[in-house]
Amino acid sequence: MRKIFYVDACLRTGSNTKKIADAIIAKLSERYDIETVRLSEHTFPVVNNDILNDRANGIVPDEYVAMAKKLADADRLVIAAPFWDMSFPGALKVFLENMSLFNVTFGSNEKECYGLCKAEKVLYITTRGMNISTGDALEQATPYVKAIGKLWGLGELHVISAQNMDYSTEEQKAEKVRNAIEEGLKLCCEF
Ligand SMILES: Cc1cc2nc3c(=O)[nH]c(=O)nc-3n(C[C@H](O)[C@H](O)[C@H](O)COP(=O)(O)O)c2cc1C
Repeated sequence: MRKIFYVDACLRTGSNTKKIADAIIAKLSERYDIETVRLSEHTFPVVNNDILNDRANGIVPDEYVAMAKKLADADRLVIAAPFWDMSFPGALKVFLENMSLFNVTFGSNEKECYGLCKAEKVLYITTRGMNISTGDALEQATPYVKAIGKLWGLGELHVISAQNMDYSTEEQKAEKVRNAIEEGLKLCCEF
């Protein structure tokens, strides 16, 4: 079976983003093996000078190399992350930095970097507190996901989102979650 690498960056108990992602991932698991990394269960280190020195000497923890290889080999990438501080949680950025490994997720020639990841499609699932849409200049999560996709050689990006969550009643929130799941399940057929 083909493989999905799934990054669950939903850090809050009762996360609405996770509710949407759980339903979509359940559907996708009918057609894909799902390799899940839940950021709530890991503490990835902030990439600092020591880590850079280690990398320069070819030292990268086996666990991270193995994980980055799985990401690079996956047929699809799914990321679920809430909208925090006009982007996504820092834990996701730190994770992506730990996976951004030379000769694993990207390579380089004399002129430029090129991607080494196989996934032709990426799905980004998010919910936002304010009434900010995907592609709004204030929405600084999707542009980054797109940009790292360029570095890593990932394909077409799909976004499933719900917004204005923090200014909605419980009933409205539940409806937004239902609508996003419905949209996501439709997308699953072609993803
Ligand atoms: C730490 C934190 C920062 C947030 N920053 C923003 C923000 O900058 N803009 C916004 O629209 N919503 C912001 N929110 C609200 C969340 O985007 C919103 O509640 C979202 O639905 C949470 O997703 P979750 O239910 O999956 O945790 C923030 C929430 C938290 C906890």
